[in-house]
This record gives sequence, structure tokens and C-alpha cells, in this order.
Amino acid sequence: MYYIKKFLLIVIFFLVGCEHTQDLTRLEEQKLPIQTSFKITDFEPATDCKSCHPVHYKEWSGSMHAYALKDPLWFSLQKKEQAHFSAEGKELGQFCIMCHSPVAFLTDAIEEPSSFSISDTSKYAPQIQEGIGCSFCHSTTHFSPTTDAYPAIEETDIIEFYLNTGDVKYGTIRNPISNNFHESEYHPDYDNSEYCRGCHNLTIDGQGAEMTFTEWSGTAFEAMGVECQSCHMATYAGYAVDKDQFPEAPYRENLHNHTFAGIDQALTFFREEESQVTAIQNLLKSAAEMNFASPLPDSLKNGETLELSVLVTNSSGHNLPTGTTFSRQLWVEVTAVAGGDTIYRSGNQNDEDDLYDFHINPDGTEDPDLTLFRTVLYNAEGDSGLRQVAVERFVRKTDTTLPVQGSRIVLYSFSVPDDSQGNLDLTIRLRFRALPPFFVREFGSGIEALPLNIFNIAELTETIPIRSSQ
Ligand code: HEC
Ligand code: HEC
Ligand code: HEC
Ligand code: HEC
Ligand code: HEC
Repeated sequence: MYYIKKFLLIVIFFLVGCEHTQDLTRLEEQKLPIQTSFKITDFEPATDCKSCHPVHYKEWSGSMHAYALKDPLWFSLQKKEQAHFSAEGKELGQFCIMCHSPVAFLTDAIEEPSSFSISDTSKYAPQIQEGIGCSFCHSTTHFSPTTDAYPAIEETDIIEFYLNTGDVKYGTIRNPISNNFHESEYHPDYDNSEYCRGCHNLTIDGQGAEMTFTEWSGTAFEAMGVECQSCHMATYAGYAVDKDQFPEAPYRENLHNHTFAGIDQALTFFREEESQVTAIQNLLKSAAEMNFASPLPDSLKNGETLELSVLVTNSSGHNLPTGTTFSRQLWVEVTAVAGGDTIYRSGNQNDEDDLYDFHINPDGTEDPDLTLFRTVLYNAEGDSGLRQVAVERFVRKTDTTLPVQGSRIVLYSFSVPDDSQGNLDLTIRLRFRALPPFFVREFGSGIEALPLNIFNIAELTETIPIRSSQ
């Protein structure tokens, strides 16, 4: 549906003059003001918006944007990296803070980033604690370019935000009704992927680190006007404000969901957990497809080898997975059961819920066929993996993520035992979870983390009769 709607919209934009390819060198020609210094009180806390925008507030309050400075993993990883850089005589500064709490970054609020810990947060203003909040996003006037950090030469906290935190809140309502809390102004760029680029596109010393915007650029999605917002801020009809307080508020067909669902969920007790899970499940329905790449036999004989080939195709708007691809787990699980016995499996978990990947089973003997779609980062010493290497100091990576509309064939081969009878039941699932459990155990600041959900994106099942070979 949104493809058609969006396409029409984009055509109209072209007719009236499109902002889509805005060039930053043209910033000065833009009439909107650009603020250069900030204080905390320039931003209102999200709770100030709650009474008039209860739906937007509810959706946002369970989002990862609202959790960005609450994640215990963030605190322990940022401390670990700060320590690593200090040990090398370098400074990491506000590198981790700039995208996770832009208000803290802009106001230079965190005095000692190197020792910033989760117990310190309560002494800071809510605008800082709330990560990426309403008034930050709705003061944006111009696109941020891609964020290119150079830790090698200590150029790390360099994100460019262009804001005007005056009385105006910008958005994509063309004819907003007035209220006595803020002025409202239509801003066409809020509907474009470039709006998300500054935080969702990071290079490190010239290498792609978290490249969601770049992955999306140049694809058929971009050509069709399917932006980040089309999939991550799905439209719905309703009222943009509380109808009781604003009886004159018009019914609008084009409001935008603010749950910002992806794959990640809060690791600790947080808000709106159920609706986040539902939003993730709904998003993941359109993430990928899985099919048999070659026909299965009508029957199998004892001792016969089954060659299984499975085609996995990405249908999301960027690589699958995207962003923090080094810590995601997207994998194929295959289970074959003959006459009640499991005769083959891959992609299963151990007692601690971990996959047998190289972190857990370095010699690869437990699950030699394990297929994971992800990146693995390597440091200058040649070490690899989440324990050793972090995104701000990798020199090389391997990449098995699926590009946009890209497919991969995964092969499995196993034999039917001589004594099996009945049927061979095959179950193949494409599974996804935000993080490997060992990583949370080892780097989660000792927190009792909530169980990590595993989402099934696609499933294939097949029953093949076993014919006895005599
Ligand atoms: C006193 C009530 C009130 C409060 C408080 C309030 N708003 Fe609004 N806001 C409104 C009304 C009314 C509209 C117009 C709705 C419409 O026309 O459908 C609006 C519209 C908006 C728009 C759309 C602007 C456009 O033209 O696209 C944004 C964005 C917005 N508000 C953000 C915020 C944020 C962020 C906060 C908190 C810092 C906030 N509002 C607090 C009443 C309020
Ligand atoms: C065609 C729909 C579509 C578009 C367009 C799209 N996404 Fe996604 N996005 C998805 C789906 C489906 C998922 C879940 C599967 C996955 O992780 O790729 C997802 C996941 C994500 C995740 C978290 C998942 C991860 O793998 O870590 C982030 C962050 C994200 N998208 C950001 C963006 C940004 C930024 C843009 C614009 C540059 C964008 N998306 C454009 C559909 C889309
Ligand atoms: C990450 C940035 C971001 C955050 C955080 C955010 N918004 Fe938005 N908001 C947007 C964008 C982008 C749009 C327009 C989307 C489009 O048109 O495609 C929007 C649209 C709106 C609108 C216009 C009506 C609609 O639904 O389109 C209102 C009102 C609004 N937001 C209020 C809020 C409030 C209140 C909060 C906090 C509780 C909030 N926003 C948090 C980015 C953000
Ligand atoms: C100020 C920086 C910033 C901006 C602007 C921003 N994001 Fe994010 N976004 C983040 C950070 C940081 C996280 C991760 C928070 C966490 O998990 O701790 C995130 C998380 C997400 C996630 C969830 C990822 C997951 O793994 O589930 C989605 C989806 C997402 N953003 C989409 C968007 C879209 C769409 C836009 C543009 C409309 C946008 N973001 C703008 C910083 C930003
Ligand atoms: C350029 C902006 C940017 C910077 C700088 C940044 N992050 Fe993030 N971070 C993001 C975005 C965007 C996401 C969500 C991406 C996704 O889900 O794929 C994220 C997600 C995360 C997550 C949650 C991901 C998960 O796997 O559940 C953690 C933890 C995190 N970042 C830690 C850090 C640390 C530590 C640093 C500094 C060493 C840092 N970030 C620097 C933008 C940034």
C-alpha cells in the first residue's frame, strides 16, 4: 500500500520542487535558523508533550530511542572503550554520547565521559536521560551528513546536528491548528531518509561501520520513495493531539507511528514492552523470504543422502541485518527428524541459549554448518569477535549480511540412517535476535537481563516418506 501512496507523494514533491537531494553547502541559502550553542532548557522533556500528544508519547516511550541512555550494555561498553583509548594515551571524548543522548552532547553535560556510569544518570536532567527525545528531533532544521569518525587521530565526537530550538516544533503536518505551548511549522524533510542519516550512518577511519543509510541509498526503495519512515514510522489515521483538549483537531490520515521498531528490545524492565514486541513481529513479517532452492525428492531410501538447498532473500530496506551487524544474530536453523529421532540439526542452542558460533565453539566442531548473517570485526593484531574488537577500532571485517534484495543459497547435506522408518520431517527456520546471550552475560554490567526474544522471520516444513531400501 505505502509503495503506491508514497510514489504519488514523491511525484508531487518533484513538481513543487524536491528537497530530497539537499546539499549541505547550500545550507546558508536555507531560511531556517541554525543554532550554534545550546543549554539544557532549550529542550523540553518528553513529559511536557505527553498531555497533548498522548499517543506519540506512549509509542516513543517504549522505543529504543527512549532507551538509548538506559541500556546497561551501553554503559559497560562505553566504559570499556574509554579505558582502551586512555590506555593508548588517546581520548574517546563524547563519541558514544553524541548519538545516544544528543542533548547531553550538545550541552557538554557529562563532565567525565570516561567514568560515566549508569548510577550517575539520575543526577542529570530528564532531557539527557531520555536519550533521543521529542524536542531534540522536532527542532531539526537541516540534514546531518554521514558521520565520519577518525579515532586514530582522535576525531571522534564530530556529529553535525542542525537545530533551531526556538518556539517552533517542525513536522509534516501542513496545516497544524494552533496551541499555546508551541508554534508548529511544516517541514518536508522530515519525510526523508536523510533525516535519519547522521546517527544511522557511521564510518570509522574511512571504513563502513554502521551503514544503514548508505545501504538503502541507490536501491529500488529509494527510487520508489520508500524512505526509512515508510517502514519504521508506519502511517495511521487518527488525531495528532488529545481530542478532549482540542475538539477542533482534524482527523488526519497521515500520522506516524513512533515505536521505531527494529529488532532490539530493552534488556532491563522498561515501558511498553508488549507493544514493542508486537511492533517488531509486524516489521519482521516483511524482512525476508525463505524458499527451497531445488526440489525435494518424493521419497528417500535408508542410507540415501539428502542435499538440501535453501534460498534466503532480504526484503528489508537495507542489509539484513543492518547497523550493529557485528552484535546481531540472524541464522538458519535446520532440524530433521526421522522416525522420532533427530538425525540432523544446525543452528540449535546450547544450555545457556547460545549458538555454537566461534565465540562459543572456536574449533567449529559442534555445529560446522552454522549459517549466520552478520559481520565479524578484526583488529590490527588479527583478533576477532565481540570480546576483542569494537567498532571504533577495527581494521578489517568479514561481511555475510544480505544486501538489499540480495539472496544467498545455504546448503546442507546429511544421510538417512539405515534403520530409520516412517517419515523424515524437516523444519527450517530463519531466526533473529538482537544479541548473543554470552555477550549480555559478559558485558551487561552484571544486570539480571530479561530473556532475549528470538523472532522467527520465516519457516519451511516438509515431510518426506522413507522407503526401506530392501
Ligand atoms: C498544549 C498542548 C500541546 C503541547 C504541550 C505540545 N503540543 Fe505539539 N501540537 C499541539 C497541537 C494542537 C498541534 C497541532 C495538531 C493538529 O493540527 O492536528 C501540535 C502539533 C505538533 C507537531 C506537528 C507540527 C507540524 O506542523 O507538523 C509537532 C512535531 C509537535 N506538536 C511536537 C510537540 C512536542 C515535541 C511537544 C513537547 C515538547 C509538544 N508538541 C507539546 C499541541 C501541543
Ligand atoms: C522497506 C522497508 C524498510 C526501509 C525502507 C528501511 N527499513 Fe530499517 N528495517 C526494516 C526491517 C524489515 C527491519 C528488520 C530486519 C532487519 O534488521 O533488517 C529493519 C531493521 C532496522 C534496524 C534495526 C535492525 C538491525 O538489523 O540492527 C534499524 C536501525 C533500521 N532498520 C534503520 C533504518 C533506517 C535508518 C532506514 C533508512 C535509511 C531504514 N531502516 C529503512 C525495513 C525497512
Ligand atoms: C528520532 C526522531 C523523533 C523522535 C524522537 C520523535 N519524533 Fe515525532 N516525528 C519524527 C518524524 C521524522 C516525523 C514525521 C514523519 C514523516 O512525516 O514521515 C514525526 C512526526 C510527529 C508529529 C506529527 C504527526 C505525525 O504523527 O506525523 C507529531 C505531533 C510528533 N512527531 C510528536 C512527537 C512527540 C510528542 C515525540 C516524543 C514523545 C516525538 N514526536 C518524538 C521524528 C521524531
Ligand atoms: C540523534 C540520533 C538519532 C537519530 C536522528 C535517529 N536515530 Fe534511530 N537510533 C539512534 C540510536 C542511538 C539507537 C539505538 C538506541 C539503543 O538501542 O540503545 C537508534 C535506534 C533505532 C531503531 C531501533 C533499532 C533496533 O535495533 O531495534 C530504529 C528502527 C531507528 N533508530 C530508526 C530511526 C529512524 C527511522 C530515524 C529517522 C526518522 C532515526 N532512527 C533517527 C539514534 C538516532
Ligand atoms: C553515529 C552514531 C552512533 C555512535 C557514535 C554510537 N552509536 Fe551506538 N548505536 C547507534 C545506532 C543508530 C544504534 C542502533 C543500530 C541498530 O540497531 O542496528 C546503536 C546501538 C547501540 C547499542 C545497542 C545495540 C544492541 O546490540 O543491542 C549499544 C549497546 C551501543 N549502540 C553502544 C555504543 C557505544 C558503546 C558507543 C561508543 C563506543 C556507541 N554506541 C556509539 C548509533 C551510534
